[in-house]
Amino acid sequence: MSCKPSQVVHGQWSNRLTYVLAATGAAVGLGNIWKFPYIMGENGGGAFVLVYLACIAIIGVPVMIAEVYLGKQGRQSPMRSVARVVQENKSAPAWRFVGAMGVIAGYLILSFYAVVAGWALAYVFKAAGGGFAGASPAYLQDTFELFVSSPVQLLSWTSIVLIVTVVVVAKGVQNGLEKATRFMMPGMLVLLLFIVGYSAVYGDFTAAFNFMFAADFDKLTTESVLTALGHSFFSLSLASGIMIMYGAYLPKNTSIIKSSIWIAIADTCVALLAGLAIFPIVFAFQLEPGAGPGLIFQTLPLAFGQMPGGRLLGSLFFIMLVFAAFTSAIALIESSVAWLIESKGFSRVQAAIAAGFGLWLLSLLSIFSFVGHDWTRLALFGTSHSLFEWIDSLTANVMLPLGGFFISLFVGWKVAADRLNGELNINTKQLTVLRVLLQFICPLIILLVFLNLIGVL
Ligand code: TRP
Repeated sequence: MSCKPSQVVHGQWSNRLTYVLAATGAAVGLGNIWKFPYIMGENGGGAFVLVYLACIAIIGVPVMIAEVYLGKQGRQSPMRSVARVVQENKSAPAWRFVGAMGVIAGYLILSFYAVVAGWALAYVFKAAGGGFAGASPAYLQDTFELFVSSPVQLLSWTSIVLIVTVVVVAKGVQNGLEKATRFMMPGMLVLLLFIVGYSAVYGDFTAAFNFMFAADFDKLTTESVLTALGHSFFSLSLASGIMIMYGAYLPKNTSIIKSSIWIAIADTCVALLAGLAIFPIVFAFQLEPGAGPGLIFQTLPLAFGQMPGGRLLGSLFFIMLVFAAFTSAIALIESSVAWLIESKGFSRVQAAIAAGFGLWLLSLLSIFSFVGHDWTRLALFGTSHSLFEWIDSLTANVMLPLGGFFISLFVGWKVAADRLNGELNINTKQLTVLRVLLQFICPLIILLVFLNLIGVL
């Protein structure tokens, strides 16, 4: 593979702010609003939140800096950017797999992400049509189960999500990705703040606050620590190619360190705000906080069906979710599109269509898992799960932490300190802190969590 700098230029963000907005858009998604509240609920609340925050600060931020650095150096898709840094530093060619693994993880994630984004889209219409008004829990559960067991419904909504994603990505970095994030991200934030305000007034804010911030360490298991770690990677969109990819489009004068810290803060704030939007309603209506993936699709609509202005609020909530999911979906597909352009000589439009079609096929695995077809159940390591569950845990619990592990090691040990500093422009003390984090602390923590889980420790 030849990896001369920028033979193919995909584009560049117009300015620093657009980069931060787009990268935050990639980070903020279903992970923050759909997944974080329900896994927090399943793992007992407060203590989990603390571990999660620690994972973001100690591991997430350094790994994000490392990824953006790789992208900014390479200026191409993750595979080629990493290959270039490998070549520059004369490291073993095997390190190239770090880039490839990210792109594969991103692709796998999008295969179920697009399906869940499709649920959100469908629920905008259900909410706006007044379908929740006065509904009982059993009715809402049935509605959800009926919906996710209909292949036609799932296929249609997933296809819509993928088609819109392909259209936006086909338009390129500035005309597609940037334009979409510019209106969706602020829109999402305004809607979220509005719903938090509403929840504070009409919901049980104190109960929600206590649930989220009162740490009960008894409820914390090794598995929940791994979940927190995996989710911090998932939520920051790490180890899935994108931070390398978006880093490749970085304008020259952007500070990698500052922008990474801002992105992490913004992502974490949105996740906490999503908790503060959802749990006050959950507690006010005595619903079950640990309801799992159905939390926002079965539990919340109950509240929307009973509260004043619930029809409007419900619609706004799902529109917000669609915006959040969409700015992530376009990010998830971008690295495979860039790779097809560079390596296979595709035009951007062809690449977007090809990547989108591949994803559509792959999304069938998740769709049929939800529908409940027998062939999607797979028994491995003594447990039987659906393919969706396998893909979800393979990516979040294995590929992302492992990707982060190797990215830290690679940038920590294989990239020469002066090269790193040439790009990051920090003082010697800060550089040492970053390198120690990447060389020892991050890989070690990830390793310990892993070994502990598989019972070695
Ligand atoms: N961070 C996204 C979320 O919280 C999910 C995600 C993981 C992602 N990896 C990604 C999004 C890569 C875009 C690109 O929902």
